[in-house]
Amino acid sequence: MTDAYTRFVRSAPGGMLAKQIGLPRPARLLRREDRPAPVLGPVVVLGDTAGADAIAHRLLEQGADVRRRADGLTTIGSVLLVLDELAAPEELGPIVLPLAGALRSLAPGARVITLSRPARGEDPARDAARGGVEGFLRSLAHEMRAGGTANGVLVEDGVALEAPGVLGALRFLLSARSAFVTGQLLTVSSADGAATEDPARPLAGRTALVTGAARGIGASIARTLAADGARLILLDVPGAGTELARLANELRAVPIQLDVASPGAGDRLVAALRERNLILDAVVLNAGITRDKLLANMTADRWDPVLAVNITSQIRLTEALLDAGDVLGPQPRVVSLASTSGIAGNRGQTNYAASKAGVMAFVDALAADLAARGGTANAVAPGFIETEMTARMPALTREIARRLNSLQQGGLPVDVAEAVSFLCSAEAGGIRGATLRVCGQNMVGR
Ligand code: NAI
Repeated sequence: MTDAYTRFVRSAPGGMLAKQIGLPRPARLLRREDRPAPVLGPVVVLGDTAGADAIAHRLLEQGADVRRRADGLTTIGSVLLVLDELAAPEELGPIVLPLAGALRSLAPGARVITLSRPARGEDPARDAARGGVEGFLRSLAHEMRAGGTANGVLVEDGVALEAPGVLGALRFLLSARSAFVTGQLLTVSSADGAATEDPARPLAGRTALVTGAARGIGASIARTLAADGARLILLDVPGAGTELARLANELRAVPIQLDVASPGAGDRLVAALRERNLILDAVVLNAGITRDKLLANMTADRWDPVLAVNITSQIRLTEALLDAGDVLGPQPRVVSLASTSGIAGNRGQTNYAASKAGVMAFVDALAADLAARGGTANAVAPGFIETEMTARMPALTREIARRLNSLQQGGLPVDVAEAVSFLCSAEAGGIRGATLRVCGQNMVGR
């Protein structure tokens, strides 16, 4: 799906005009179908710590074309900057500056990834260096070209760089599955996580529930999880029954018609699962609505349903699933849909932003509860995604909103779906209570 402006600037006359007057020229993003190979090589690993050696070794084992220097390469697919042992800000330059001369050799859709440790509020010089990585990374992401992205993996102290969870995060960020993720730092907080047995079907043998699955992002999540091997239970309101049945047929999934905000929805879901002997390994809480109005014109009939569907239903459903005791598998994964509006706020969306900021705090608390059983809870915060929800925006607002990110375009539902699928996988077991933004580095919030 390409918008009219993008089609125009990709034509010869449109491209020339855009170049002359300095208009945005969004690059074509390479997604999984364009670039199925998990890593774009050659991969240059910069840094001279034991962690850098270990990472280079693991990538070599996986068949990647790994180099330890950028000099002399005319094309570079991926660059890893291993910054795990920084003790002071002056140590950053010698590792990152070799990238400066290599930036012009980056291939379209290239990946630059920092591996570093979070500041801990303990050692001023070391924390300044660790915090500095974040500023460097977020600025570099603004400078990437041709659909390239720059992201960081923050590895908690005590977790080895070659832990499965770190390698899993790295593989996701190196792949074309993260096409619309840039300028983000993903924290791996535990050594949990396991390598995927079949990388082509990372969710094989797992059962996942997707709420709000009949259309838009939910339908795309369902298709992506199915392609990744999951067995699916698809839920939506009775009013969307026809679309839900059609998708369930296509994906050989079990449809459940249920309003997640209705009284007793959790118990009814548990009963429906028990009736069919279904045990969930992953729960994707995607159902969401907007009822935008400035607060000055806000009324309870716009406020209440947004809070009820977008956050209260998530709390109630997960409570019911956890309390039931027999409908969740070991190491369950919960992935919830937040929004960049919940991070930066948005005019006319006090209700929606309250619900979505609530989602991010909710997964953080839920992750602590689930950790005891090896489970995780995380959120994905989409920025501007081309769906029916955003198609209803006024034309000029929509056009501005879709350009306000480093990739100068709206994301596609599949971009959100890829992040959700990754967080449902065994590889993401070390990521807990995080919010992963899929927003092309939207210029709002952090
Ligand atoms: P959409 O409106 O196209 O689809 C939402 C689906 O949820 C529909 O199938 C709807 O029937 C279902 N649903 C709504 N209320 C329900 C209820 N009470 N019980 C069961 N199902 C219900 O929305 P879209 O764009 O696909 O959004 C999906 C999620 O992503 C939402 O949580 C939304 O807030 C979030 N999001 C979307 C963004 C975008 O740019 N489209 C940006 C940021 C977040």
